[in-house]
Amino acid sequence: MSNGKVKIWDAHTIQIYKRLLGYTKRFWPVGLIAIAGMIVDGGGLAVFTKLLKPMIDKLFTEKDPVMIFWMPIWIVMVFLVRGVGTFASSYGVAYIGRNVVNAIQRDVFAAYLRLPASFFGREHSGHQVSRITYTSEQVAVASTDAVKVVITEGVTVIGMLYAMLSTSAYLTMALFVMVPLIALIASVVSRRYRTISRRIQSTMGGVTGTVEESVQAHREIRVYGGQEQAASRFKDVTDNTRRLNLKIASTNAQSSSAIQTVAALALAVMVFLATRPFEIEKMSAGDFIVVLTAMGGMMPSLRRLANVQSNIQSGMSAAENLFEIIDTAPEVDAGTRVLDRTQGDIRFEDVSLKYARGDLEALRGINLHCAPGTVTALVGRSGSGKSSLVSLLPRFNEPTTGHILIDGANYESFTLASLRRQIAWVGQSVVLFDGTVAENIAYGELAGASEADIIAAAQAANAWEFIQKMPGGIHCAIGQGGNLLSGGQRQRLAIARAILKNAPILVLDEATSALDTESERLIQQALQGLMKDRTTLVIAHRLSTIEHADQIAVMDQGRIVERGTHAELLAQNGHYAALHRMQFHSQPGD
Ligand SMILES: Nc1ncnc2c1ncn2[C@@H]1O[C@H](COP(=O)(O)OP(=O)(O)O)[C@@H](O)[C@H]1O
Ligand SMILES: [Mg+2]
Repeated sequence: MSNGKVKIWDAHTIQIYKRLLGYTKRFWPVGLIAIAGMIVDGGGLAVFTKLLKPMIDKLFTEKDPVMIFWMPIWIVMVFLVRGVGTFASSYGVAYIGRNVVNAIQRDVFAAYLRLPASFFGREHSGHQVSRITYTSEQVAVASTDAVKVVITEGVTVIGMLYAMLSTSAYLTMALFVMVPLIALIASVVSRRYRTISRRIQSTMGGVTGTVEESVQAHREIRVYGGQEQAASRFKDVTDNTRRLNLKIASTNAQSSSAIQTVAALALAVMVFLATRPFEIEKMSAGDFIVVLTAMGGMMPSLRRLANVQSNIQSGMSAAENLFEIIDTAPEVDAGTRVLDRTQGDIRFEDVSLKYARGDLEALRGINLHCAPGTVTALVGRSGSGKSSLVSLLPRFNEPTTGHILIDGANYESFTLASLRRQIAWVGQSVVLFDGTVAENIAYGELAGASEADIIAAAQAANAWEFIQKMPGGIHCAIGQGGNLLSGGQRQRLAIARAILKNAPILVLDEATSALDTESERLIQQALQGLMKDRTTLVIAHRLSTIEHADQIAVMDQGRIVERGTHAELLAQNGHYAALHRMQFHSQPGD
């Protein structure tokens, strides 16, 4: 994040503004129409103000018949034209603004899809959500609404100035007292904005995050009586947002009232000057009304011009935040070779891994060879590094030192997409998507799979039995996150997905942990068939399920401490034998 001390018109901000305008480029015809509308909108008021002089002097003082005929028509014409201008500017600005928000939202979302896995652990998911829902809205206000205010109100002010000057230059001089004062107020006010609005953005992320968490944890909150704690946390974050919003409102209000006071002062000066003996003779009632109305009509425009700073400020810090994400380096994908179909020879050479957060090495000096078509089981206490080790394969994390070779070549030399195409993965926590059962099994690049293949995969994963009972079978919608399914059912869908992918490397990270012994055994049989022609890495907490693995690697504190077959390791009477004894004594029959 940047330091928050950015000036309003320094090079950096101008660069952000230019980049934002880049988003509006496509819409230049709409932009031109909108700008024309703004000019008509702002100018219309000035024209009407000018009309006030003949209206008063000719209609009521001289009773001119031509004027009496034309005046009502002119008034209607002026406001008809102005109405068209108002519509063009308002709708045009909304049109461009909505399109810009949409484009930015898509860019940020696209960034989320290509950012490295480590990015998602760095900040609360609420912040990631609120960038799309809240921050991008702020940007729309800056890139378009601010432009509208600047042009419409700018033209109004200029038009009113012209009306005044051409009517009475002498009185207009009174106005110049206001200019430096207003400029001073505006600059003092604007300084506060960027810092406050930046803080609002981050508290919005906190609000979203807190709500998300409480909604997800609704069961835990109820069972553990966390209502009070959740409510007070929510109160804290929303209080903070409210406080900051009020700060902004107070700054706005202060500047508004200050400017109005200054304007009223100028008005008083004007009345005083107009009524001096040498001036009062020269001035008609129409003249005075024109200058007075022009001054009055200018005040709200000046106030809006002064406030536009705040929109620009908050929009700029919002845009800065979004561009930072859009510019964050994507996953490293420097490989050029396309891995067609690997034989499945995987070799870890002296691999260590240190997460960005946390100073402990999650993996230390890992050497492991998984021969094509074999099953390697990883066992060990929780936190020993099993998941970390397999997370290296699809390059969710990069090894800090050491190499990983696939078919004898450094796996970084392959393109990410082709590497990941080789891997079917069932993770510890299964994520399902909002859609039907079939869409969840045939997800992503599998989307074209035939119904027969999907059903076959579901059968192999022992999932067919429960899918059949659902209304609509594989076309049953399972809802966001698969909330309506049990943990075991979700795992079986994930296994079906992996089976359908039919990739040469299969990673099962406690893929059957939520299943009962019976279903696990059934799936185990299915997986046994599946494992035949591929290289499998399996992490299992029930040792009974991995007894037939070609090799078992026992992990402890990031190291592989023992390696061998089930029989060899039992004979060694070390870690594995101890784990084995423990499970079979505490969970007979499991
Ligand atoms: N994304 C992460 N960031 C930082 N530390 C992590 C992350 N994931 C895991 N760790 C740490 O790495 C160690 C190994 O974790 P993990 O590989 O998940 O163990 P296992 O799968 O064997 O239970 C643990 O100490 C854990 O705290
Ligand atoms: Mg794990």
